[in-house]
Parts: sequence; structure tokens; C-alpha cells
Amino acid sequence: MTPQAQNRAIPRPTRYCRVLLGLAALGAVAVCLAALPPLVHAETGIENADEAWLRYPALDAQTAKTYDRLPPRVVLLGDSLLLKSAEQELMRGVAGMLGRTIEGEVSQGKMSLLSANSIVLGTLEKVRPLEAGLSPPEELRADGFWLKSARIHGFVCLVVSGATERGVLYGVFALLRKISLTENIAALDEVQQPYAPIRWVNQWDNLDGSIERGYGGRSIFFADGKVRNDLTRVSQYGRLLASVGINGCTVNNVNAQARVLEPSFIAELSRIADAFRPWGVQVSLSVDLGSPKLIGGLDTFDPLDPRVAAWWRNRVDEIYRQIPDFDGFVVKADSEGRLGPSTYGRTHAEAANVIARALKPHGGLIFYRAFVYNHHLDWRDLTNDRAKAAYDNFQPLDGAFDDNAIVQIKNGPIDFQVREPVSPLFAGLRRTNQAIELQITQEYTGQQRQLCFLVPMWKEVLDFDMHIESGETLVRNLVAGRVFHRPTGGFVGVSNVGLDANWLGSPLAMANLYGFGRLAWNPTLSAETIVDEWTRLSFGSDRAVVQTISALQLHSWSVYESYTGPLGAGTLTNILGNHYDPGPESSERNGWGQWHRADPSGIGMDRTIATGTGFIGQYPARVQKLYETLANCPDNLLLFFHHVPYTHVLHSGKTVIQHIYDSHYEGAEEAQNFVVRWRSLEGHIDESRYRDILARFEYQAQEAVLWRDTICRWIYELSHIRDAKGRVAETNR
Ligand code: GCU
Repeated sequence: MTPQAQNRAIPRPTRYCRVLLGLAALGAVAVCLAALPPLVHAETGIENADEAWLRYPALDAQTAKTYDRLPPRVVLLGDSLLLKSAEQELMRGVAGMLGRTIEGEVSQGKMSLLSANSIVLGTLEKVRPLEAGLSPPEELRADGFWLKSARIHGFVCLVVSGATERGVLYGVFALLRKISLTENIAALDEVQQPYAPIRWVNQWDNLDGSIERGYGGRSIFFADGKVRNDLTRVSQYGRLLASVGINGCTVNNVNAQARVLEPSFIAELSRIADAFRPWGVQVSLSVDLGSPKLIGGLDTFDPLDPRVAAWWRNRVDEIYRQIPDFDGFVVKADSEGRLGPSTYGRTHAEAANVIARALKPHGGLIFYRAFVYNHHLDWRDLTNDRAKAAYDNFQPLDGAFDDNAIVQIKNGPIDFQVREPVSPLFAGLRRTNQAIELQITQEYTGQQRQLCFLVPMWKEVLDFDMHIESGETLVRNLVAGRVFHRPTGGFVGVSNVGLDANWLGSPLAMANLYGFGRLAWNPTLSAETIVDEWTRLSFGSDRAVVQTISALQLHSWSVYESYTGPLGAGTLTNILGNHYDPGPESSERNGWGQWHRADPSGIGMDRTIATGTGFIGQYPARVQKLYETLANCPDNLLLFFHHVPYTHVLHSGKTVIQHIYDSHYEGAEEAQNFVVRWRSLEGHIDESRYRDILARFEYQAQEAVLWRDTICRWIYELSHIRDAKGRVAETNR
């Protein structure tokens, strides 16, 4: 049966669902009225959506008073763009939250200006000479910052300093976050350092203004084949990114148009770089490896041809003439129809290095994506396995990439599914820089129309221990280059914000962008801390609001998983179409390799070393042991690694088939509870966001029922095993 036929056969459950929701809502309103606290919120609503978590609403008078000793004046040690952004942000935040005006002064090294209590903004180099012994407790790395309460020339000062000016800007955002979260800043002596140098977002924007897998409106960068005239949103985006420490943005689709390297386009690109520069966000481009031939007038793009090398050098030099702080390139090659080095029998390292060498003199980086696989695999051959592709292609090249090349690896071996094991390639590269690619835009996880807070998923990946040799080797340390002492590495998030007022299309989805940035800065933060911060910054500190929204967010991934992709089967979505609706049949009998191998006798991909595709053999020995046997394999990844009969009994004690039925019913019920829980916040937050989000939860509740019914019926018709609880009805088709 085609996915389309399934969707026709099962009408969207509007009436039934509305009745349920109505009943639930009545209950919730009753509870809510009983418990309603007085309305106090200085929060603005959806009309300020573009400010996201940087709204700076007024603190209540009593709390604001605790910041009375904050110096009323800011002294800037320099007058660069970054320092000015830092100063303006400080003034804006203090005015918004404390209702106070801060006066500004620029000191070009004239200490005489420091003649009153002040907030001092400057790099360490400028700050140190102000007062003997004024030095951070530890050495600052690039972009790290130091917040210090100090007496300078006898005046009460708050110093915000960094190894770089970007660090100073980050320090100001951190200081304002502390005030927003009502933390004590009376006696600060705090250093914060980024976990890794690479903290980038990738945007998959096309030059016509559309965004591949974007769910928040048209591109903020491009329209009609050109860079947009009005780049206000780019500056605003830069501010948001900087506030969480993101320092790079690749502005165009990984499925790149070669045209982005044409001189006329580079001139336009420089306007985007100008808009980002005050926020310390450096611009980069996705490029087509075939460019020397496609737009360069050569008859080849062979990476080993000296003419090709010269072409890249010239083009890169031209870019740096116009954009001196250009960050580099992202390359998707030999993947999903893109040109690649295989055309000439060359390796990915050879392809990466020809570009790396052009970038090297300018300090630029090349991110070479490990998302390389054959999408014409023979599905009848049970030994074929797309999951093996990244490791097979890149592990043998370990050590062959130049030092300014980074292999960019998706978190899992398939493609941003609702649950995957970590990619074994993180453990396979030891003499090569790597970065993890996480997907902020919810391609397979509800497309921002359904709630799915991804930080708990990312935490599981980043905290996963690869057990390389005997020691602890967490993925977060591997990608940050800390285990094998690589010169660079870090975190890339595919964000895909758009012109929609909410950036990602939904207010609650913004927690994923915030969370990505916070984890890229410090992956040891917990999901709970991140969501608590984000909720308070975005919605204020009302206890009911913070508790309810945090709980909804933290629960949302497992709920979404339970009705869309249980036991690691992969997302049972329509993979040939929108990656959103249920469509379990679409994964099978085609070359894309997102197979779940469901048949009348069982379900799951056998990826064992003993009888399957051997994928498990790509992991270090201790991880192999975890996945290879049914006895050890965790339930939530069982069907990723094993093909089992529907009657197989899980560690939980349930059979696989009963788990699938139950998880779909439980998930759909939870999604309906989201509506009830959200309704309990009526009157606690601004009306516009309350209504907007309510409508989204009501919609999600319906979609969850649709998913439940489609998947349960499909699996019943395949297996002919009844639901022990009698909920899954036989159909007469
Ligand atoms: C997924 C996604 C594509 C994207 C690709 C990639 O397959 O559906 O739109 O181009 O990933 O990451 O390159």
C-alpha cells in the first residue's frame, strides 16, 4: 500500500479528537481557575518574537533594586565594531530589565577616563594595565571571557574582558543573562571558556529565497537569485547567535549552486558579512566541488590538476580581498547526486586538500561532509547498509586531511532520524579534525509543527562513551579535538531560520536553537539547565510557566519518538516525500537505504557482525559488545541493530509488537495531555503566545492520533498479531 493510500484510508481524526480535547480542556480550565495566581508579567507577546530569548523585560521593582550597585557608566577600551555592539547591548539590556540608563565613554587608552564607578569593556591586553594584579584566574582561550568585580583607581568597577573582542561581547551577553535570571553579580570573578573553537550554524538557503528543510519562512539572506536588499534580519540573527557564542554561519544550501563563487556574487555576499560582523559571526559558503568546471571555464575539476588548484587559489584570494574575515567553505561531494572526486578516481582527502591549501594562507577552514553514501543501493541484498557508508569512506583516509580541513559528521549514521546510535566515525578519526553536525531544524522530528526539544537527544550523543582503547572517550571530547589533540573541531548546527517572525516558525522550537548554542559553548550543561534558562529568558519567571514549559519540552522528544519511530526502527515517515506524514512503506524497496525491513515475520535491520551487515564492527570493541547481542542491546535501539520476530520479548518484558501498539497509544495520549498542560497556563503568559501555542498543541494532538492509527494498522496488517488490549481494529479493505 502506498503512503498516499494509507492517508486516504484513515481520515484525519478531527471530530473524535476534538471531543477528547474538549473534555480535557474543561478539566484543565477548572484546575486552572482554582489555582490562578494574580497576573504579573512584564512579558511582551508574539509581536516581539524576533527578539526570541533576548527580550529583556523589566524585572519587578524589588529584584531590580538588588542591582542598584551596578555602575551607571560604561567605559570602552577601544572603539571597534564588536566593542560597540557589546556596549549597546549592555545599555539595551540594562534599560529593559532595570529601567536605567547607562552612560557610555570610549577610552583610547587614556586611564583618566576611568574617573567614576564603571563597567569596563575591553580585551585583557587593555584591561591588565589598569590596575596591578588585575588578571583572570586562568588563561583565557580565544572567545573566552572573564567577569570580574574589581576596584580600579579606587572606583567600584565591573570588568568584562576577553582574550579577543568577541570574548568581551560574549561576556556582556553572559552578564545580561545573569541579570535576566536574577543571579547575584555582586562579587564576580568568573571565567567561561568555549569547549571548542568551531561553533557554527549551517543554513540550507537557496538563492531563490527558498530553504531546503526550512520551516520558518523564506530566506533572510536571499531572494530572486540575489542577496536581499534589506538585511535587517541578518543583523538580528547575528545578535541571537552571538548571545549563545556561535561564531560562524554558512549561508547557503549544502546542495550548493556553483554560482556562489562568481565574482558578482561575492560582492553581494560581502554585504551579509557586513551585517554579521558587529556580532562576531563570520560568514562561510557551501560550494560545489565541480565549480572549476561549472563556472571556471576549465574542462576539469580534478583536485589533482594544477589548473584546478590555481583556480581555487584565485577564487579564494578574491573572496578574502572583499571579505577579510571570511571563514571558509562547506563541501557536500559524491552525495545524493552531487559531483565529487570519484569522477576522477580521487579521494575525499585529495578533494578537501586542494581547497584547504587555497584557504590556508588566509586562515580559512574547509568542512568536508562525511554524509557520503550511495542512494542507489540494491535493497534486495541484505548485506547492503547505508549506515556503513560514512565510516567506510572516511576512516581509511584518517590522517590524510590537511590541518585546516574538518570532517563534518552527522550525529548518527543515517540521517537525523528520531533515534539513531552515534556515528562510529567519531571514534574512527584520530588524526583528522572533526565536527559534529546536529540538525536544529526538525526535518524528521515534526518540522516545528510538533514539539520536539532535541537537546536531550544531543546530550545522549555528546555524552556517549566510545570506549576507545581503555579510557573514557566521550563524543563531545572527540569532536572538540580534546582526545587526540587536534588543532580544531567542534559543533555545527543546521538551523534554517527564516523570515517568519518566530525565526524557526514556532516559538517553542526556538529552544532548539538556543540549546544548540549553549551546548556548543558548553556541552556539559544539562538539558534541564538549558531549558530552564531558555524558558525564563523567553517567558519570564512565573513558577507555573517555567515548570510547565520545561517539563513539556523535556518530555517532547520521547513522546514524538513513541508515535513515530519506536525501538530505533527509524522514522516511519514518508521518506520519499515530505519527511513528515506517516508512510512506513516508503522506506522499503528502494535504493535510499533507510530500510526497517518490516515483513510478515519480523522487523528491524540486522546490522550484527555475526549474521548481518557488519555495521556494528565499525565501533570500538566495548561498544560492539553493547549492540551485538540481543541480551545487551538496549530496547530503544533494538530494531536499528537487529531483525527480530514481532513476538521477541524486550528487556521491558513486552513483546516487540505489543510495545509498538502501546507506545503509539501512549504517545498519542501524551500529545493530548500537552494540550491540557498548556491550557493550565492560561493567564500566566501573554495572550498572543498562549493562543498561538495552544493551536499548535491541538494540531499535534490530532497528528499523533493519525500517526498512531496509521502505524498500528500497518503493523497489524503485516504481522496479523492482535493488540492484547484490543485497540487496533481489523479493517475490511
Ligand atoms: C537530508 C535532507 C536533504 C539534505 C541532506 C544533507 O537527506 O533530506 O535535504 O540535503 O540531508 O544533509 O545533505
